[in-house]
Amino acid sequence: MVARILALESSCDETAAAIVEDGERVISSVVASQLATHGKYGGVVPELASREHLRSIVPVVREALGSAGLALSSIDAVAVTEGPGLVGSLLVGITYAKALCFASGKPLIAVNHVEGHIHAVIMEARQTGQPVEFPALALVASGGHTHLFEIQEGYKYRLLGKTRDDAAGEAFDKVAKLLGFGYPGGPVLDKLAPFGDPKGVRFTIAKMKGNATDFSFSGLKTAVLRWFEQQDMASEVAGRRELLRSNPRPQVEEWLQLTPKRTLDLIASFQATVIEELLRRVRSSSEETNARTVIISGGVACNSGLREAAGRERLNARILFPTPGLSTDNAAMIAAAAFRKLEQKQFAGWDLAAKANLPVT
Ligand code: KG4
Ligand code: ZN
Repeated sequence: MVARILALESSCDETAAAIVEDGERVISSVVASQLATHGKYGGVVPELASREHLRSIVPVVREALGSAGLALSSIDAVAVTEGPGLVGSLLVGITYAKALCFASGKPLIAVNHVEGHIHAVIMEARQTGQPVEFPALALVASGGHTHLFEIQEGYKYRLLGKTRDDAAGEAFDKVAKLLGFGYPGGPVLDKLAPFGDPKGVRFTIAKMKGNATDFSFSGLKTAVLRWFEQQDMASEVAGRRELLRSNPRPQVEEWLQLTPKRTLDLIASFQATVIEELLRRVRSSSEETNARTVIISGGVACNSGLREAAGRERLNARILFPTPGLSTDNAAMIAAAAFRKLEQKQFAGWDLAAKANLPVT
């Protein structure tokens, strides 16, 4: 018998719903992005995010069911992200999931968003017939988190390190905003980095004391700011902001016309430094834990420079990235993470609450 899970995800600025069978077959996956709403503010505005989720959640769930050709009665459980994330946004998904369960009598499953990002890769590995082998290492790098976990058989997680300040995606977003590239910054900087020299700007970043597997991006962010202040950037940045006003999604060629070599070198050097900061911790932890698989997931896992650099690593482990559609926020990953809970009948009660911070256990 197949087990079909309908999952809802609304932790940040994407309203998503998906139906996944047996934790591995994606029957439908719908993501409504709020980029158009938040883009002009240079970041996610929590109050606007909740309002957009309210507007989108019903049509998104309807579309997920409709494109799968399924009624709610053919679903075995409803899963929802309980945290971490923006409380007002999470609340929309949780309340609607509870309402669906109340009306249909289906069980409710609560999923940790970060665990969802990891399960995006576990799900795809199962699809290919080469499942993730344990112990595994998982790096989740997104706009909200930069976490490194060891995962033992049976999904026992041990947090090895996390960011002490900004998340990796947040660093991309802040640098892009400073330079006038709009929000989100990761995808634009990723496309422009190959046009610059990654050794063009030297960053001297203080070595961190304490836990060697923790990450830090604030030193790099300050170094970029210092570089910025030493240049005469006003008209260059104004030109790009002007472009964004007339066209919210410029093509690479349009950006290139407004971006001189010094800035392209800065972008390439910044990206290379972030990649090295991420990979050196993956490298050392993979050896220490004898990991057989390394999972790299979350929005930053879309980064082509990171994918290329990871491909050059000589580890004893297989490195796996999700396909780009499953790297950024989506609900298929939530359904995948919920499957094990369905098997173990780990259901949530009506008291399920939104949690801004929620550790992976
Ligand atoms: O996982 P995600 O969709 O949402 C969170 O859970 O935060 O990640 C979004 C983050 C943003 O900070 C965005 O700039 C970053 O992922 N991102 C990238 C790329 N695509 C998205 N960062 C670097 N390179 C990319 N290609
Ligand atoms: Zn995420």
